[in-house]
Amino acid sequence: MRAAACKYGTHRVISPPNALPQNAQKVDNSLPIFDNEILIDVDTLNVDSASFRQMKDACQGDLESVKKMILGIVAERGKQQNPVTGSGGMLLGRVKEIGKSYPNSKQLNVGDKIASLVSLSLTPLHIDEIVEIFPERDQVKIKGHAILFESGVLGKIPDDFNETLALAVLDVAGAPAQTFNLVKPGQTVVIIGAGGKSGSICCAVARDILKDTGKLIAIQPSDRGCQRIEELGYCDEVLKVNAQSPVECERAVSEVTDGKMADLVINCAPVADTEMSSIMCAKQRESTVYFFTMATSFTKAALGAEGIGSDALLIVGNGFAPNHDQIALDVVRKHTKLRQLFKKQYT
Ligand SMILES: NC(=O)c1ccc[n+]([C@@H]2O[C@H](COP(=O)([O-])OP(=O)(O)OC[C@H]3O[C@@H](n4cnc5c(N)ncnc54)[C@H](OP(=O)(O)O)[C@@H]3O)[C@@H](O)[C@H]2O)c1
Repeated sequence: MRAAACKYGTHRVISPPNALPQNAQKVDNSLPIFDNEILIDVDTLNVDSASFRQMKDACQGDLESVKKMILGIVAERGKQQNPVTGSGGMLLGRVKEIGKSYPNSKQLNVGDKIASLVSLSLTPLHIDEIVEIFPERDQVKIKGHAILFESGVLGKIPDDFNETLALAVLDVAGAPAQTFNLVKPGQTVVIIGAGGKSGSICCAVARDILKDTGKLIAIQPSDRGCQRIEELGYCDEVLKVNAQSPVECERAVSEVTDGKMADLVINCAPVADTEMSSIMCAKQRESTVYFFTMATSFTKAALGAEGIGSDALLIVGNGFAPNHDQIALDVVRKHTKLRQLFKKQYT
């Protein structure tokens, strides 16, 4: 072991100078660990949905090429950070070593199964081998190690969840926590990408808060996604629209709200160019748009809102909120149908 270093992990930044691990171009993934770090024997990477889609599209769906791409990224950067989307994901693994000055507030023991609740885009990672890719759940089984810093948040895998299901839920844990804070009874709420993982958890939370007030509207382009939304039954309206077509989205939401538009829009679509649909589905005054998606461009959102005279409050989807892991798992525990659907897809 090496003597304790920076709690944020700056001692592992190779370049550029002054960077933190997340915005570093390259980090040091070497062993031994420092005294205030922990070493994880990694089992599965849950790649961020925007990142996984981008790699899959770039490789024209060929999983062998996706494998090579992931190995190349990690060899070059010392972490799984997609150079196009900038995003990472999180990991599932077992604690292999705990540094002697690591502040062990979660009372971890060697051998505990954990999920990292900080992004792979800042987590030093070394891959020995990619065992298998599971494209239907954005997960990659590997052999390798990762290092978590003193400031890194992690969660123990609960006994009542299959581990790949828990990993999938924890990946998007920030979304339900923020949705709890944002939705108010009586509101009109639009969820973009409502048929996906974060989208459907947000729908469940919104329905719990709205009860039989307000209106919950889903935007989803695929038949498969629309069918999932109908099956879950949380939404009052399911609009089969592509969020990359802002004018069409605005028209569709206007039709089902008598032109009043939404008080709150939550964007969970993992593709570029959906900023303006989100903003144009919201009321121009006294509304909020929450960009959970990692495919959001600050420039497009900020300048686009200005361009149409919208005063909507634009919120960046921080992946962390206090107790977000417990909040997300509890939503899935409570919603049996949602849990069954997730179980089919993520185990
Ligand atoms: N802020 C954070 O901390 C954080 C953490 C984790 C993930 N994320 C981001 O959250 C987003 C969602 O992740 P997820 O895991 O929930 O993804 P997911 O399970 O893949 O779901 C995405 C949903 O969006 C739909 N969609 C795709 N293209 C669309 C379009 N053009 N218009 C409207 N909907 C569209 C998808 O439909 P189809 O399946 O039919 O294509 C799917 O229903 C991603 O961008 C991810 O990067 C953010």
